Amino acid sequence: MADATLGGSTEAISATELAEIGLRCEVDGEIATITLDRPERRNAQTFATWSALARIGESLPGQVRVVVIRGEGPSFSAGIDLRMFTPEGVPGQGSFGTVARLDDAAFEQAVAEAQRGFLWLRRPDIVSIAAVQGHAIGAGFQLALSCDLRVVAEDVKFCMKEPALGLVPDLTGTKPLVDIVGVSRAIEICLTARTVGAEEAYRLGLAELVVPGEELPAAVRDLAAALLATNRDAATATKRLLRAAPGRTLEEQAAAERAEQALRIRALFASS
Ligand code: CAA
Repeated sequence: MADATLGGSTEAISATELAEIGLRCEVDGEIATITLDRPERRNAQTFATWSALARIGESLPGQVRVVVIRGEGPSFSAGIDLRMFTPEGVPGQGSFGTVARLDDAAFEQAVAEAQRGFLWLRRPDIVSIAAVQGHAIGAGFQLALSCDLRVVAEDVKFCMKEPALGLVPDLTGTKPLVDIVGVSRAIEICLTARTVGAEEAYRLGLAELVVPGEELPAAVRDLAAALLATNRDAATATKRLLRAAPGRTLEEQAAAERAEQALRIRALFASS
């Protein structure tokens, strides 16, 4: 497996730079594995984490079709680095005190930049899988929600803690949460900031698969292999269709299916 200095269309990000931020990215053929790698801080995330995630997305090698996001150690991620709530903040990145003093445009830009780290995981040319064990709190839950699929260990603990801390979930997690569990259940989960365990997560559709912790890597590998067995262009077109479906009427979706199929059939039979 290659330790990645990624080289896609955007500025590359080196393994050393990633390590300083607490991330690793390894590319093995068509699979990229991004590891949150600050287990001693339960993979707490900072603004640097989110900018780096965005840069990883922008510079992924073209052959990558599956992106796995995992966390080192007992927790997937304990959410935002709590030093953001202190006057000193995170060294080099400020604190919420600093963010609060930004004008509207700068605030908007800062949050949009953070959200960029999450949004690319939905793009159609890849399938993203979150491999989640232990706690996935706040930004950790939202990162898992940003992925197309979640494979979880039996000890998983999802928690949208932001409202308990006086904040809203703003790292693009509210839409997938509502899309998956519905508005009422999302309100109940977020506004109580309670923990959702494995059995409930599976029942609500927040997890596609629940496995014993020691089987998590193998389960993710098997899922990735199954995803890679289909035709790449058809998979991309199908994901594009499925992602857009909730925002369309049946007639609009039927038209979109026709348009995608025209491209597929013409591509498949171009030479005959
Ligand atoms: N930020 C910074 N450090 C953290 C951290 C965080 N979010 N979570 C854990 N750590 C640190 C702890 O301070 C501790 O450090 P020391 O060893 O120096 O004491 C170390 O990681 C291990 O933590 P625990 O001993 O608490 O580990 P645990 O396994 O017993 O418990 C836990 C794990 C339940 C996740 C617990 O650490 C915890 O509750 N962490 C805080 C979770 C939290 O409130 N996150 C904010 C979510 S809201 C959000 O994310 C906002 C947003 O998006 C805008």
